[in-house]
Amino acid sequence: MPRIVRRERLVPNIHLLEVEAPEIASKCRAGQFVIVMPDARGERIPLTIADWDRDRGTVVCVFMAVGTTTRKLALLRGGDDIPIFAGPLGLPSEIRPFGTVLCAGGCFGIAAIHPLVRALKEAGNRVLVLVDVKAGYLLYWEDKLRALADEFIVSSRDGTYHSTDYVPRRVREVLERERVDRIHAVGCTYLMSSVAEATRPSGVRTMVSLNPIMVDGTGMCGACRVTVDGKTKFACVDGPDFDGHLVDWNELYARRKSYFDDEIRSLCAWEEENFP
Ligand SMILES: Cc1cc2nc3c(=O)[nH]c(=O)nc-3n(C[C@H](O)[C@H](O)[C@H](O)COP(=O)(O)OP(=O)(O)OC[C@H]3O[C@@H](n4cnc5c(N)ncnc54)[C@H](O)[C@@H]3O)c2cc1C
Ligand code: FES
Repeated sequence: MPRIVRRERLVPNIHLLEVEAPEIASKCRAGQFVIVMPDARGERIPLTIADWDRDRGTVVCVFMAVGTTTRKLALLRGGDDIPIFAGPLGLPSEIRPFGTVLCAGGCFGIAAIHPLVRALKEAGNRVLVLVDVKAGYLLYWEDKLRALADEFIVSSRDGTYHSTDYVPRRVREVLERERVDRIHAVGCTYLMSSVAEATRPSGVRTMVSLNPIMVDGTGMCGACRVTVDGKTKFACVDGPDFDGHLVDWNELYARRKSYFDDEIRSLCAWEEENFP
C-alpha cells in the first residue's frame, strides 16, 4: 500500500500530501492527476500532481479541505498508508515553445500550475505566473514559483501585494500591456471560467484544467462528462485540459452540483462523528 511521507498544512485549509509512489513519479508529466482514496470505506477523488521526485520515488499533491474526503485526507500523517493512490491519469498538458505564456492559479491551483510552469520554462517559453488569493496569508509556494517565473504577479482582494482585484482584472492588464501567446488557468471552476471570459475578446488560446466530479478516472463511468465545442468529452481521459473558450461552463456548474445535498449530509455526519 502506498505510504504517506509527509502531510503538511501549507496555509489554512490547504494541505500538501507527499506519497511514496515510485511508478507514478517515474513517468508523470505536467497536467496529470492521481485518484486518491483516504481510507478503505471512502470515496475516490482526483488530485493534480503538483510535484514529484523521481530519485526518491515520491509524488506531491496539494489539496483544499472542502468536504468529507479532503477533510479525511487532512487528518492523515507521515507514515500512514493510503489505500488508493493511482495514476498518472489524464493527458499531459501540451508543452511547446509558444512564446510568452501566462499561467494563472488559485487555491489548490497555485500548486497545480507548478509543474506546468517548470515544463513551459524548460521548453524555452517566457512564463508569467499570476496567482490569485483571497488574502495575502493564503499565498503559499511563492518562493518555488518565483524561482521559475519570468514575472510573478499576485491578485489579492485584501490590499496586500498592491492588489484588491480578482484575477480577471490582472489578466486583462497583462493582455493590454504585452503580447501573450498562450494562457493556462487552474483552480476552482469560477476562477477558470472567469479567466476564460476575460481572455475571450483577445482570442488568445486559454487552456483550463477542468474539475468535474470523477469516479473511476479511466473513462468507464461517465461521471466526468463535459461538453467542449458542442462535443461530449470525458475529462479524465480526453482532458483535463481543454480550450476554455469552448467549454460549456453552465453545464459544468450544474453537473458539479449533482450530489450537493449528499455532500453536505456526508460532511455533517462525519463531523458529528469526529468532532462531537
Ligand atoms: C482532474 C482533477 C484534478 C483536481 N485536482 C485537485 C487538486 O489538486 N487539489 C484539490 O484540492 N482539488 C482538486 N480537484 C478537486 C477535488 O477532486 C475535489 O475538491 C474533491 O473531490 C472534493 O471531495 P470532498 O469529498 O472533500 O468534497 P465534496 O463533498 O465532494 O464537496 C464539498 C463541497 O465543496 C465544493 N467544492 C468541491 N471542490 C471545490 C473547490 N476546489 N473549491 C471550492 N469548493 C469546492 C463542492 O461543490 C461541494 O459543495 C481536482 C478535480 C479534478 C477533476
Ligand atoms: S471519471 Fe469516470 S469517465 Fe471520467
